[in-house]
Amino acid sequence: MCGIVGYIGKKDAYPILINGLKRLEYRGYDSAGIALINGEPRIYKIQGKVSDLENFTKGKNISGTIGIAHTRWATHGEPNDVNAHPHMSENEHFILIHNGIIENYSKLKKRLEDRGYTFKSETDTEVLVNLIEYIYLKGKVSVEIAVRLALTKVVGAYGVLVISKDEPEQLIAARNGSPLVIGINKDEYYFASDATPIIEYTKSVIYMNDGDFAIIKKGNINVKTLQDEPLKPKIQQIDLDLESIEKGGYEHFMLKEIFEQPKAIQDTFRGRLSSKLDNIVLGGLHEIIEPLANAKRIIMVGCGTSWHAGLVGEYLIEEYARIPVEVEYGSEFRYRKPVLYKDDILIAISQSGETADTLAAIHLAKEYDVKVLGICNVVGSSIPRETDAGVYTHAGPEIGVASTKAFTAQVTVLAMMAFLLGKKRNTISQEKFEILVKELNAIPEKINKLLKSNDYILSIAKKFSQAKNFLYLGRGNLFPVALEGALKLKEISYIHAEGYPAAEMKHGPIALIDENMPIVVLATKDKSYEKIASNIQEIKARSGVVIAIVTKGDTVIKSMSDFVIEVPECDEALAPLLTVIPLQLLSYHIAVLRGCNVDQPRNLAKSVTVE
Ligand code: G6P
Repeated sequence: MCGIVGYIGKKDAYPILINGLKRLEYRGYDSAGIALINGEPRIYKIQGKVSDLENFTKGKNISGTIGIAHTRWATHGEPNDVNAHPHMSENEHFILIHNGIIENYSKLKKRLEDRGYTFKSETDTEVLVNLIEYIYLKGKVSVEIAVRLALTKVVGAYGVLVISKDEPEQLIAARNGSPLVIGINKDEYYFASDATPIIEYTKSVIYMNDGDFAIIKKGNINVKTLQDEPLKPKIQQIDLDLESIEKGGYEHFMLKEIFEQPKAIQDTFRGRLSSKLDNIVLGGLHEIIEPLANAKRIIMVGCGTSWHAGLVGEYLIEEYARIPVEVEYGSEFRYRKPVLYKDDILIAISQSGETADTLAAIHLAKEYDVKVLGICNVVGSSIPRETDAGVYTHAGPEIGVASTKAFTAQVTVLAMMAFLLGKKRNTISQEKFEILVKELNAIPEKINKLLKSNDYILSIAKKFSQAKNFLYLGRGNLFPVALEGALKLKEISYIHAEGYPAAEMKHGPIALIDENMPIVVLATKDKSYEKIASNIQEIKARSGVVIAIVTKGDTVIKSMSDFVIEVPECDEALAPLLTVIPLQLLSYHIAVLRGCNVDQPRNLAKSVTVE
C-alpha cells in the first residue's frame, strides 16, 4: 500500500517521479504528491490520482534533480490534500514520504506536542518527520544521525525516503517491513516500492532488507544499519522488460492480464514439465523435496485471491499426494496460537511477495522451526527472500488490482506440486501422473479457445450489469473458484456477491433466491456432476436465474439453465484453470458496463503491506 519513488542524479527528477508514480499507482491512488529540491525544496500534493497531481503542477516550478514522490492508500486520516505525502517538518528542515504504519505514533505525537510541536495532518507520517526534526534541532546532530535515531524509536513498518534543505544534495532511504528497491546507474540512483519504475533506466538494483539504511551523497551510496554498522548490499540484475508493464493496446491491464493467461501458465510450467511430458522438475524444491514429501501436514497461508489458490491446492494435494493440508488466512494464523510441529511445512502463497499478514505468518512459523516454502510472482520480493525454498510463478507483472493471471499461475504451481508429490509418494500411478502432466500441458491452448467466448460473455454481462446481488456455487475444487468469482465481482463492480459450496446453499443462501438473483454455477463434468445438476433444479424451483459454466457439448445442464458458458473438456483436477476464466471476464465486463475503474477499484490496493 502506498507507492514511493525517489531520484537523485543529474537528470530532471520530475518526469522520472511522475512516471514512477504511474507505475506504482496500483499500490494506492487516493492522493499523490511530490517534493523537489533545487536550492529550496518545493512540495506539491493533492487528493486524487497521479494525473490530478500532474494537472496541479502545470505551470509551476518543477525543476530539480533530486526529488521524492508518493501515491497514497490512506491508513491514518482520510484522503485529502493535507494528509497526502510528502510531509514537511514544522520548522521545514525535513521532507519525508512513507509507506507503512508507525504503530506507536500517538505516544510519539503526544511527546512532541508536549514539547511544542503542532500537527497539520492526521497522519502517522507527520509524527515521524517531526520526530526527526526534534532530534536534529535538540541534539544538534547531523541530518543522517537524526534520521537514524528517530527510526530506532519507531515501532511499526516503514519504507521511507527523506530529504532535507540543510543537506540538499543528499537522499536517505530506510526500510523496515515495507519494500524498497534502489536502482543504480552511473552517477544516479532511483528508489521505488518495487522495480517497475526503475527498469526503464537501469537493471542493476539493490533490494533493501529490513533494518537497512541507505544514504546517497555526492554520487555515492552508503548502506548501513540504524546503529551505523556498514553493510555490503548485493547488487542484482533484474530480468523485467518494459513491454510487460504496459497495456499493449488493451483498454485495461485487467483485460490484458486475463488474455495473457495462456502464456502466463506456459511460462509457469516452462522448463518444469519434461519434454516427454513424463516428469515434473521444480528446481526451487530440490533442497526441500524430502521433508515436503514426508510432511505430516502442509499449512498454506495467503490472503485474498492467493488464499483461494491455496484452497484449490488443498483439494489437489490431498487427493493426489494424500498429505493433509490446512489453508489459513495470514491475518488469522498470525494472531491465534496455531499448533505447529517441526515436520509441518508452511507454504506461503503471494503474488506480490509483500503482503504483511502472509509475511508475519512466515515469521511465526519460523519461530517454531517449521520449514517455509514460498509460491510468489514478484522476483526478489520479501517473501521469497525470507523462505527456505520456493517456486516462482513467472506470470509476469500483474498490474490490475484484481488478480487474474497470478491466480491461474499459482494454481498451476500447486497442481505441479500435487502431481509431483503424488508420484514421489506412490499415491498416484505413473500412468495417471503422465495423463495429468499432459492435461496440464494442454491447458494454455484450451484457454486460448475459451477466450474466444469473450463477446458472448459480454452479452451475458449486459443482462446482469444492474443486478444487486450474485451467488456463485461450486463443489470440490470448484468451490474455491466460486469464491474467486464472487471476489472478482465484488472487487471491481461493487456488486455484492457470495461464493458458496453448492450443497451448502440449502443451509442459508437458498432463502435469498428469487427471480432477481443471478446464480453462477460451476457445473463441469466431474464426480459431482449429478449433484450439481440437482442443485440447479433446486434453484430453478425457486425462480433463480442460472448462468452455468459447463463442459463443451453438455446438454443436461444446458436444458435446465438460463445461460451456459462452455469450457473445453479437461481432467477435473485442472478444471479450476478453465472455469475461472469466464468468471474473470464476466466481472470485468460488468464492471466496465457500470462505469467502474476496473484497474483501480475504490478502497483497494494491490499489495497490502499493512496488517
Ligand atoms: C490484495 C489484492 C488481491 C490479492 C491480495 C493478496 O487484497 O487486491 O488481489 O489477492 O492482496 O496479495 P498477494 O500479493 O499476497 O497475493
